[in-house]
Formats: sequence, C-alpha cells, structure tokens
Amino acid sequence: MNKIYLVIIFMSGVLLASDVKPINNQIALKECGSCHFAYQPGLLPKRSWKKIFKNLSDHFGTDASLNKNDKQKLLSYFVKNSSDNSNQYLSRVINRYTKPNTTPMRITTGIVFARAHNELRRDIFRRKSIRSSSNCIACHTTASRGLYNEDYVRIPR
Ligand code: HEC
Ligand code: HEC
Repeated sequence: MNKIYLVIIFMSGVLLASDVKPINNQIALKECGSCHFAYQPGLLPKRSWKKIFKNLSDHFGTDASLNKNDKQKLLSYFVKNSSDNSNQYLSRVINRYTKPNTTPMRITTGIVFARAHNELRRDIFRRKSIRSSSNCIACHTTASRGLYNEDYVRIPR
C-alpha cells in the first residue's frame, strides 16, 4: 500500500511539473558547461555536490579542477541550490527518491531518471547526435531553462 501510494505521487509529480531552478551563476555556466551541459544544482542533493567538488581533479576520467576561489564560490552556490534546499518540483521528487544513505555521483543513475526514461530504447542514447544519457540538452530543448517537460522534448535522429 505504502509503495503504491509513493509510485502514484511520483508519477503525478513528474507529469504535472518537472522543473528545476535554472543556473544564474556565470562561473557555473562557463566552467561546468565547458565539457557538457551545465546541470542545475537542483538535480542532486548537497552531499552529492560536496563529493563531486571534492574530486574535481578526477572527475569521471577527466580533470575538471578549478582555482580555489572559484571552487569555493561554486560549491556554496551548488549546495545552496541543491535538491534538498529547493522547492522546485523536480528537485523535491529527486530528493524524495534518493535514498538518504547514498551519495549519487550522477543524475543519470538515479531512480527518477530511470523512471522518466523507461519507455526510451537504450540504443537511442548511443546515437551520434546524442552520445550519452548525460547529454540532456540533446533531447530536452529547454533543459538550460530548467524545463524538462516532455512537451519540449525533441529526439534527434
Ligand atoms: C574537463 C571536462 C569537464 C568539466 C570542466 C566538468 N565536467 Fe562534469 N563530467 C565530465 C565528463 C567526461 C562526465 C561523464 C559524462 C558521461 O558519462 O557522458 C561528466 C559528468 C558529470 C556529472 C554526471 C552526469 C550524469 O551522468 O548524471 C555531473 C553531475 C557533473 N559532471 C558535474 C560537473 C560540475 C558541477 C562541473 C563544474 C564544477 C563539471 N561537471 C565540469 C567532464 C567535465
Ligand atoms: C535521448 C533523449 C533524452 C536525453 C538524452 C534525456 N532525456 Fe529526459 N526525457 C526524454 C524523453 C523522450 C522523455 C519523455 C518520456 C516519456 O514521457 O515517456 C523524457 C522525460 C524526462 C523527464 C520527465 C519529464 C515529464 O514531463 O514527465 C525528466 C525529469 C527528464 N527527462 C530529465 C532528463 C535529464 C535531467 C537528462 C540529462 C541528465 C535527460 N532527461 C536526458 C528524452 C531524453
């Protein structure tokens, strides 16, 4: 009963409004948007951002180091706007479904991401025009505005 109840909350939430606060920090847009789409802080809890910022020199196989000053500023910006400090709907859903005893390093390995995309064939993510499930902006035309609503999805060939 409890489980079914949660699934219904989850589904209605994702269908009605899936929003995170857009990035309004120029350093974040520039530094964290230079190799990939600049993920909004509201897509992960603050413990995840702390861990990610701790390991920037060994960041998913690349070096994403920042100078001390920028790193400090960005870390507080990400923590301040993390999913657990945000009221936006998608952040709240992510927060609710991230187990408190886990510290995910990715958005794409979370249950919210999995459920939102469970009707997509896996091989679509490997298309040349998309490359990886992490490349939100390839399909979500409004991702940089923090809008992941399915109405604005366009899957490239
Ligand atoms: C030097 C390149 C580079 C920079 C700069 C960089 N990243 Fe990354 N990041 C990567 C790579 C490579 C991946 C793995 C992408 C993949 O698997 O497709 C990644 C993945 C991620 C992911 C996981 C995405 C997922 O799959 O859910 C997060 C979160 C992330 N980066 C945050 C950041 C933040 C925050 C910054 C700025 C402080 C940043 N990145 C700067 C290269 C970079
Ligand atoms: C291959 C294209 C593609 C990529 C890449 C992709 N998505 Fe999606 N996403 C979709 C499609 C298509 C849907 C709608 C699925 C459905 O309704 O069955 C969707 C749905 C969603 C939803 C639910 C929205 C709603 O209104 O129900 C969220 C949230 C979401 N995506 C977030 C992300 C994030 C965050 C990333 C990057 C980390 C990402 N997506 C990467 C195609 C993609």
